[in-house]
Amino acid sequence: MILIDGKAVSAQIKKEIAEEVLQIKASGGKTPHLAAVLVGHDGGSETYVAAKVKACEEVGFKSSLIRYESDVTETELLACVDRLNKDADIDGFIVQLPLPKHIDEDKIIEAIDYRKDVDGFHPVNVGRRSIGLPCFISATPAGIIELLRRYEIPTQGKNCVVLGRSNIVGKPVASLMLQKAYPGDATVTVCHSRTANLKEICRQADIIIAALGVPEFLKGDMVKEGVVVIDVGTTRVPDASKKSGFRLSGDVKFDEVAPKAAFITPVPGGVGPMTIVSLMRNTLLAGKREIYK
Ligand code: GUN
Repeated sequence: MILIDGKAVSAQIKKEIAEEVLQIKASGGKTPHLAAVLVGHDGGSETYVAAKVKACEEVGFKSSLIRYESDVTETELLACVDRLNKDADIDGFIVQLPLPKHIDEDKIIEAIDYRKDVDGFHPVNVGRRSIGLPCFISATPAGIIELLRRYEIPTQGKNCVVLGRSNIVGKPVASLMLQKAYPGDATVTVCHSRTANLKEICRQADIIIAALGVPEFLKGDMVKEGVVVIDVGTTRVPDASKKSGFRLSGDVKFDEVAPKAAFITPVPGGVGPMTIVSLMRNTLLAGKREIYK
């Protein structure tokens, strides 16, 4: 069994991005600038946004954090998006999700200029990805694909089972595994809460990407020997022995599945660290106007 070390791979990619930023600055180019909009004080969102800002510092980007209280109106937030769209110094920006219930997330995402949508959530980027055109690919799916690439895991003709059909992970990663390229060229099955015979389908899988958000869902008897397992789950589970009062649980019952796996990602330290560097890469591409002029 090979443990896929997302922490080490992400550190390497950060180094690569930092070197490129140094070169850009040395040749008089513009410093890439990422802005993040954070609404309210959700613990998870605070942690993620802080990590994104810190990563910007580490690779040499400029970053701006724009905060609103959770009673911000949709109109105010749309005005903020409009300002960021027009701000020539900002190459890319994200609006951290989830947003409070009174705000229509789809409306906010659609208001973002797709050329600055480094989260890859805008329908233009989603559509371009699904037909294989250059676009911003969202961070978690891009991170998963990069791990498969860096570990040179064969994907062509493999049975890939994606557990979960979210817009952020399940659907985009299924589309990427289907693309006519490496990593991709897989036979992809997407399973969800209404899927019949899920265990049998998983037992046929060469690659399982688990993105349900159900702690320890995938058990040892649901996988075959030699399977490649990518665990995207990061559910906070109460744990009195931790200072924070919780631990992060993946979607995979690691102790049972790992002994049967050829490759497996741990939680934490697998997919998680990769998502932030994928956002950094998208910001670099946005700064260089490499995808959209
Ligand atoms: N909430 C959970 N994941 C993400 C992400 O990748 N981007 C944004 N903007 N919000 C999120």
